[in-house]
This record gives sequence, C-alpha cells and structure tokens, in this order.
Amino acid sequence: MSHQRLTLVRRPTGLPANEDFALETVADAAPSDGEVAIEITHLSIDPAMRVWMSEARSYWPPVGLGEVMRAQAIGTITASNADGFRKGDVVSGMLGAQNRFVGSTNGLQKLDVSRVPATWYLHALGATGMTAYFGLHDIGKLKAGDTLVVSAAAGAVGSIVCQLGREHGARVIGIAGGPDKCAFVKNDLKCDGVIDYRAGPIGPALSELAPKGVDVYFDNVGGEVLDAVLARLKRHARIVLCGGISQYNATGRALGPANYLSLIAARASMQGFVVIDYFERYKEFAVAIGGMIAAGKIIAREDIVDGLGNFPAALRRLYQSQNFGKQLVKV
Ligand SMILES: NC(=O)c1ccc[n+]([C@@H]2O[C@H](COP(=O)([O-])OP(=O)(O)OC[C@H]3O[C@@H](n4cnc5c(N)ncnc54)[C@H](OP(=O)(O)O)[C@@H]3O)[C@@H](O)[C@H]2O)c1
Repeated sequence: MSHQRLTLVRRPTGLPANEDFALETVADAAPSDGEVAIEITHLSIDPAMRVWMSEARSYWPPVGLGEVMRAQAIGTITASNADGFRKGDVVSGMLGAQNRFVGSTNGLQKLDVSRVPATWYLHALGATGMTAYFGLHDIGKLKAGDTLVVSAAAGAVGSIVCQLGREHGARVIGIAGGPDKCAFVKNDLKCDGVIDYRAGPIGPALSELAPKGVDVYFDNVGGEVLDAVLARLKRHARIVLCGGISQYNATGRALGPANYLSLIAARASMQGFVVIDYFERYKEFAVAIGGMIAAGKIIAREDIVDGLGNFPAALRRLYQSQNFGKQLVKV
C-alpha cells in the first residue's frame, strides 16, 4: 500500500509555483507504539504558508527542502497504537500535505462532529476562528460602540471578525475586493458598511463611513490599506496586526506603513500576534463561538479545491483573491 505526499523542493520567488513542490508516492508505514495512522481528508490552505516556504525569520522554522509541506489537516484514524485514540476517531492536527499520516499523537485534537461538519475545525472552530476571536478581544480590546474596520472581510479570518464584532456591539466596516465579496460582507455578514478596495482609493469612503475615525482596525492585508486606516485613527485606537497578505509575495522589501506617525498623535497602538500562543485557551474560544454557532449566528463559507496535486494552485488562489471563503484542499 502507498500514499501521496507533497514535498517542498524549491524556495519560491514571488508567487509559489507548481515547480516549488514535488508530488511523491511513498510506501505506507505501520504505526509504532504510541502512534496512529490517519487517513487525511482535508487540508487547510493558509496565507502564512508562503512565509513558511521562505527562509524568513518567523514564529516557526522554515519548511526544509525535501520535507513534507507543513499543513493543518483533518482526517480519520485508521489504526491506533496510542492510548486515548481509536480507529474511527476524527482528528485535526499539523498532519502535513499528504493523504496519510503516521506518527505521534502530540498536538492531535479529537473532534466532535455530531453538530458541525469536520471541516469547520479547519476554520470557524479552529485556528481561523481563534485568530479572529483572540485578535479582536485580546489585542483589539474591542468595546461595544467601537468603530471596527476589517480588511479581507470576506475571507476566512475576516468574515469571523466581522461577525464577532457585530455580536459585540461594534459598528463594523468591512473592506473586500469586488462586488460579489462586498455584497456578501454587507448582506450576509451584515456589516454596517463595506468598501471595495479594488474600486479606487479607500480613503474617501473610509472618511465617509467613519467620520469620527476608527477605534479598532483588524489588519489582514497591510500595504496601502493599512496606510489609509492609519490616517484615520481615533484617540487610543488599536491596530491588530494579524497578517499582511498584500506583501507576502513581494520580491523586494515589503511596503511599510508610511503613515505610522499618526500613531503618536492618536496615542494609538499597533500590535502583532500569532494564534499559536492562544492554543491553550481553546476551550474559552470554543464556548464563545460554539454558542454563536448553535444560535445560527455564524456564516462560514468554504472554497474547496479537489486533489493533493492541486495544492499549489489552491495556495495561489489566496494571493490572487480567487478564494471566496476558507480555502481547503480535499485530498
Ligand atoms: N496572526 C495569526 O496568527 C494569523 C492566523 C491566521 C491567519 N492570519 C492572517 O490572516 C489573513 C487572512 O487569512 P485567511 O486564511 O483568512 O485568508 P483569506 O482572507 O480567506 O484569503 C486571503 C484574502 O486576502 C485578500 N487579498 C489577497 N491579496 C491581497 C492584496 N494584495 N491586497 C488586499 N487583499 C488581498 C483576498 O481577498 P479580496 O478578494 O477581498 O482581495 C483573499 O481572498 C492573512 O494575512 C493571514 O496571514 C494570521
């Protein structure tokens, strides 16, 4: 018996290319003591993968050349030699870009799939949702009545931020690209305002929708959008630096925020964070989002690409604004 895996064979220049990866067929191994075998069904495709593929200094070491590409995944245990895990259990973990995983149970989470599809643990009920929740509350310190601006608002993290923000009593303005995503942000996510950043400079629209300025900006994109918001901060505003997808494929230096001096006059803060630091607080998050899911208050779109071999194409979709919802690969 054999399975397929995708290894990183070259560091990308600009957008990740198919040639940066190799699809390999390898013989199956049996799980040793303390290990399980998992048939992987879905992979989470994350913008940060571009960072993991490079040699940039980050919160995790780069994926090594020749190694299986790092990826969060879900699957079903097919054989177990580990206490607490049984054949048939549905689990999530950093299982890698492959269709079979054999290894230790460190970091594996058993999933309750009785109320939500298993794939939701790769977004709303997983790291995506945690990013939105802890970024908004721990870093953004969102208060009812705040004006909250969210970029990549139709995306996986952004769409959850918008919904959590509204639930918390904030006035939410979403920024997204194109009429379809903007309609989704306004009509489905029920944001108070929406700005299409592709339609022109966002400054004038932002000034109109937030005439008194912005209390919290949840930044997923960086670049020019960050600069436009920096110029419109309220006193004591908080900028949550979640991601900077507009800069991940830059071949030169990343575009820095020219308007950063406005942080001084506004007595504002700009703070980065990484969701892995919050994993131990999963239960707190699960109670909060679980209540909203049970009440039918969370919309979580998925965008599924079929086949492990299409992993590189699925990854590119994120940087080319082609995904509409959480990007997954069904393996
Ligand atoms: N700090 C953390 O721990 C953490 C954890 C998870 C994710 N993140 C970050 O959160 C952000 C969103 O991730 P996600 O998984 O939810 O992806 P996503 O928002 O579902 O997909 C990425 C979206 O980014 C937008 N985009 C792409 N290129 C852009 C550009 N040049 N300028 C402006 N927008 C652009 C596109 O939306 P449009 O069609 O609207 O352009 C695209 O659909 C990323 O920056 C990611 O790195 C951070």
